[in-house]
Formats: sequence, C-alpha cells, structure tokens
Amino acid sequence: MRIGVVIVAAGRGERAGAPEQGPKQYRPIGGLPVIQHTLNAFLTWQPTHQVVSIITVIHPDDTDLFATAIDDLSNANRIHSVMGGATRQMSVLAGLNALKGSGVTHVMIHDAARPFVEHQLLDSIADILAEGAAGVLPAMAVTDTLKRADASGVVEETVPRANLYGAQTPQGFRFEAILAAHEAAATSGRTDFTDDASIAEWAGIAVRLCPGTSSNVKLTTAQDIAMADAKLKTQERFPDVRTGNGYDVHQLVPGDGVTLCGIFIPHDQKLSGHSDADVALHALTDALLATCGAGDIGDHFPPSDPQWKGAASRIFLAHAAEIVRGKGGVITNADISLIAEAPKVAPHRDAMRQNLSEILAISIDRCSVKATTNEKIGFIGRKEGIAAIATATVVYGIVGE
Ligand code: CTP
Ligand code: MG
Repeated sequence: MRIGVVIVAAGRGERAGAPEQGPKQYRPIGGLPVIQHTLNAFLTWQPTHQVVSIITVIHPDDTDLFATAIDDLSNANRIHSVMGGATRQMSVLAGLNALKGSGVTHVMIHDAARPFVEHQLLDSIADILAEGAAGVLPAMAVTDTLKRADASGVVEETVPRANLYGAQTPQGFRFEAILAAHEAAATSGRTDFTDDASIAEWAGIAVRLCPGTSSNVKLTTAQDIAMADAKLKTQERFPDVRTGNGYDVHQLVPGDGVTLCGIFIPHDQKLSGHSDADVALHALTDALLATCGAGDIGDHFPPSDPQWKGAASRIFLAHAAEIVRGKGGVITNADISLIAEAPKVAPHRDAMRQNLSEILAISIDRCSVKATTNEKIGFIGRKEGIAAIATATVVYGIVGE
C-alpha cells in the first residue's frame, strides 16, 4: 500500500469572520499557524505503510502565508503545494490530480482546519484500507438532540439521531476509485459535495465507518480557534521543577561525637573540617544551590574565610534556601542519604528531619533522611570518613513565565 495525502487549505474561512486576521488555517493556535499543526501530524506519522507524498492545496493569495507556515517544519521537503479551486470539492480534485502518476494506491484526504488529528486515527484508517476497504470515514455518533428549523429560526421538527454520525477527516480511499468519482462529479456538474465520502457514496463506492475522535474537531468559527488556542496554551504550562544534587565527605578523626543534619551524636570519633563539618547539611546546601545555578557552598562560604571557622552548618543551608527563594523558588523536597559505618543514624532520623523542616521552613513530610553503611568497604567502611548525598527539588513557577 502506497498512501498519498491531500490536505485541503484553499478555503477562505468565511464562518470564522475577521478577514483582516487572514484565513483561519493560518491563524496562530498555541503560537503556531493551524496548518503547521496539521502538517506536522502527518510529517511525524510513522505508519507501517509507506506515505509517498503530501499534497497541500492552497489558495493563490496564500503562497507567502504557506511558505512562512512550513518554514520551520522539519522534512518540509516532503510537502508539495498546488493551487485549489472555488469549492472544497474542486480543491480536493486539484490535490488528487497532483498525485496522478505518483504510484499511490490509496489516498487520505484531510482538512487543514483539523489540526488535532491523532496518529492513532491515521493508523486505524490506514489499517482498514489495508484490509481491503474502498473507502473509510472517521465519524462520531451524534450526541445532541437534532432539530430542523425554518429560515426564521423556528423549530419545525426533531430529527431522530439514531444511526446519525458527524463526518470527520481524513477520509481514506482507493486512489483510482476516488479520483474517478471526483472526475465524474465534476463532469456532471455536481460541485456541491462538502466531503469526499459523499462523492464516494454518489459514485457507489462503499464507505466504512471508523470511530472518529472528539479532539479531531474542525475549526470553523472564531470561537473554535480561540478554544484550540486556549487548549494548547494550557497543555504548554509546565511547572518549572528543578532538581539539584550535592555530595560531601568529611574525614573522621578521634573525638567525642559527630554533628549530622544539625544533631550532635556522641561517638568515639568526630568529623574534621573547617565548620562543624556537617556533611549532610553541606551536601543539601550544594543541592539547593544547584537548582538555580548558584554555584556551590565554597563560593558562598570560602573555607579560607576565618568567620566560618567552627560555624554551625545550618547557617549555610538557611542561606542557600534564601538564595533559592530570592530567585522565586519554592522548595518542595529535601532528601539526604548518609553513608556511614557508625554511629547509628536511625534513632536520630526524626530529629534530623525536624531540623531540616525548621531550617528550610517546609513541612516535615518534605524532608527525608536515610542512612546506610558501606558494608565495611573502602574509606567509609574503615571508618575514615562519612559521606552524604543530597537531592533538592525546587519549583520555579511555570516554564517560560
Ligand atoms: N477548502 C479548500 N478549498 C475551498 C474551500 C475549502 O481547500 N475552496 C478547505 C478549507 O481550507 C478547509 C477544508 O476545506 O481546510 C474544510 O472546509 P471549511 O471548514 O468549510 O473551510 P472554509 O471553506 O475555508 O470555511 P467557510 O466554509 O467558513 O468559508
Ligand atoms: Mg467551506
């Protein structure tokens, strides 16, 4: 199966109003022209069947708009454009004519004004064609109660909605069959078909329904375009979550105890270092600074500076938290792993977490302290030192805002 794609984009979008804003298929949604989303859906589709060619049918007045819209699409060289006609039907025929001689066996005809078409829908249509169907129409069962009204807007009757469907695109066909049907319709002066499944129906080609999707809407009115824009903008609002890691080691020397996470634990050794040598708080300080590119602990508290001699490391951590908050950060998690053969950390864990919670001014469930031994291996195993690894998670608002 060799599939050609025809995307019709030559309409004037009269129902969308505001002609000064240009045709609807070139108006921006989520910062990009509608048609760019549509084309991108086909360009990034990787079907098991071969997509031979993508023909876009455009209006002669729109050549500049079209060139700009496809400019930053990768693989844009796979797209060819031809000029459309006065009706959708004529535009489709122009697209089908452009596929003559290309060797396509099947064609999928799609409205440029349906930018949310999903790959899954394209796959379903291609699969049904591959099973031998002459025509495939994605459609949604009508859910609203249907009314027929007269020209003055007075209801005349309620139309039963059973077995009624709203037709979507892309509609898939055997290429030669739909081309012949279009040519026959044009020759016999029928120019009023608004989709290709109705031409197929007129020509006696069997068309199979396949489930459409609720997101595959056609942008028709100004409100449709505004809603599409809002939908994409909401999707793009990613929270700016950043994680930073920190690592620190201090040597153990004979002494009377170690300070970890600000808690003094009596022990037959102490940690040597310029400050109180609290490896855990040092690692976490680095992790916090790393969430906003603020360097490391040594940049802010140089060991060469006598004022930090013997200092309580909670000062360093509180300062890092202040820097993070000054940059608009909200600290959402602080996690420390201690690697030490001794002393036992477990009895002090909750006091340590309480300390972190107070220094960082966040709730205790956002503060985690874990500990492991080093299985008596290496310098930690020989009780020559204690190491700490920390991870900080900070949210800096919304990306791009
Ligand atoms: N179309 C086309 N050539 C035309 C008319 C329509 O290629 N002469 C395309 C439109 O660009 C659109 C698709 O067919 O992608 C579906 O048509 P519709 O939603 O009706 O778009 P417009 O005809 O542009 O809008 P309106 O009917 O409101 O004027
Ligand atoms: Mg139209």
